[in-house]
Amino acid sequence: VMMDINAKKFPVSPSLYGLFFEEINRAGDGGIYGELVRNRSFEDTIIPDRCHVEGCQLHSPAGWVSPFEEAPGSIPGWHLRKDEAKADIYLDGKDPINSENPLSLRVEIEDAFNERISIYNEGFFGIPVKKDERYFLSFFAKKESTFSGNLEITLENKKGEILSSKSCQIASESWQKYEVVLESEGEEPEGILAFSTNERGTFWLEFVSLFPQKTFLERENGLRPDLVRRALDLKPTFLRFPGGCFVEGFSVETAYRWKKTIGDVTQRSSHWTLWQYRTTNGLGYHEYLQMAEDLGLDLMYVVNCGLTCQGRPGEHVPIEDLDEWIQDMLDAIEYANGPITSKWGSLRAANGHPKPFYLKYIEIGNENFGPAYNARYKLFYEAVKAKYPEIITIFNIHWEVGTETAGLPVEIVDEHFYADYDYYLMYHDMYDFYDRNGPKVYVGEYAMILGDGAGALKGAISEAAFMTGMERNQDIVVMSSYAPLFANIHHTNWTPNLIYFNGTNSYVSPSYYVQKLFAENRGDIVIECKVETESRFSYFKGEVSIRQKELSYIKDINISSNDQLLFKSEDLTETHALSRLEGDLLKIGEPSWKEYTITMNALLGEQGLKVRLLDSTKEWQQNYILWELD
Ligand code: AHR
Repeated sequence: VMMDINAKKFPVSPSLYGLFFEEINRAGDGGIYGELVRNRSFEDTIIPDRCHVEGCQLHSPAGWVSPFEEAPGSIPGWHLRKDEAKADIYLDGKDPINSENPLSLRVEIEDAFNERISIYNEGFFGIPVKKDERYFLSFFAKKESTFSGNLEITLENKKGEILSSKSCQIASESWQKYEVVLESEGEEPEGILAFSTNERGTFWLEFVSLFPQKTFLERENGLRPDLVRRALDLKPTFLRFPGGCFVEGFSVETAYRWKKTIGDVTQRSSHWTLWQYRTTNGLGYHEYLQMAEDLGLDLMYVVNCGLTCQGRPGEHVPIEDLDEWIQDMLDAIEYANGPITSKWGSLRAANGHPKPFYLKYIEIGNENFGPAYNARYKLFYEAVKAKYPEIITIFNIHWEVGTETAGLPVEIVDEHFYADYDYYLMYHDMYDFYDRNGPKVYVGEYAMILGDGAGALKGAISEAAFMTGMERNQDIVVMSSYAPLFANIHHTNWTPNLIYFNGTNSYVSPSYYVQKLFAENRGDIVIECKVETESRFSYFKGEVSIRQKELSYIKDINISSNDQLLFKSEDLTETHALSRLEGDLLKIGEPSWKEYTITMNALLGEQGLKVRLLDSTKEWQQNYILWELD
């Protein structure tokens, strides 16, 4: 590598690395959102077209089938535990606590036979319970006059042993809210929350919610701290939320509408996502703003521009009806940034945040394109700029660079790539050729997802090669985010992802280390450097050099299986070798723990990361390789 240290090019883009957060793979509900009860308000049930629920006003979308959920009509997350007793549980649509939460759970015990009968929730694939920790339970309940109302509420381990217990008396025949603090005397990664009685009678439960005290910063309705830390370790600078296709939905009814996601959680509506589960929207618009503030990130809100996911025909908002959607966007900006005296700013204050958040970016639509999108984009863009000229807008999406944005006012254009190994190597230098007078670029979603090596080190290396091209061209590529960020291992409907988790643990992919490495090692100025190495593939030269004071960062990706001379230059006396990967590029399903050194970092000095290869075939039953820091 030849570096001319006097050849200053341009400053680095401070916003180059950020987080793409989407409600996908249970990233939110059953993920970073701290709620431990699954199906807390009973609307998760897939309700057949011919509804069997008494008083039911809720139907699942036509033809809705989810490979992850129980059969239509069953009540996901909830179970009845009994022996000989005559008892059953039912969904009930009569007398809802409010119109947004139409269903509750009716528990009918005809004859208890003195047995202990329990209704329990299994959480999101187990409720993680830690010793000596406090859990805040709240629920609504009512009873029939003949039932005593005595319930024992317990956290239990898998064997049914009680870790925490409190008694509670349901006092009324109309809905009342109850709050109970449970402190655990034991540990169980996959526990349950149970309501038990040995008496006959009927009672109802609704909006059963359980949060650990130890959410991130101990916020109420808060986030899971270990997952927040995983995200923070990536050294991101912004948060794009809430998707992804999640924003668009698979129909107008399932589109993201932020106004339904703020305020008292028990008044919010839940909705089906196109990622095959129902979101509670407990992690709502306000919580996303709070998340970004707590993590020190700039905010990027992706708004639905009236188009559903990937242009499903017949499911769009007609352009003449867009006023309401445009107004929704303006109100979202006012909610985030407006003064306390404004309508939506005052609501933000009432929801606990008098000071404005600082929403910086609005992305108009997600993965929308073509004439239908362009017409909508223009309307949204003009509305934002007329009222909030300081907001930076993002256009999506580049399919044919340059042609779609012609004649439109575009500040930044979002580009998505889900491609294979060869693609990322082949196009590592594509940004070298972009028009410097065109819009800036946000590589909003990318990941090597196709073919051998996806989700493994091989894929991560190809992404790294592509990223050198982004880094080298930070004058136009101003932002990027790998996608998706999170996946619950029990509900993964997109692979690969950066961070995998169950209720208690998380593991990260090789791509995570690439992201972390690149984002952690930043400089001030991008400077010229040239590769002069015989042994590279002729099309491949993924290098970038960034200088910061006396320190230079060189990011150079060696895809060959041989050591390569990394650099030799006049001002740097040392010579560093970028050594080959130990072993070959890894294969999916390779057994047992093994030590490798990721040498792709190629930093000044030798900072190889030690990682261990987790046996993907046994422990996690996943079809890709997961890694953990040694
Ligand atoms: O990242 C997963 C999905 O990929 C996103 O929801 C969508 O924008 C893209 O198609």
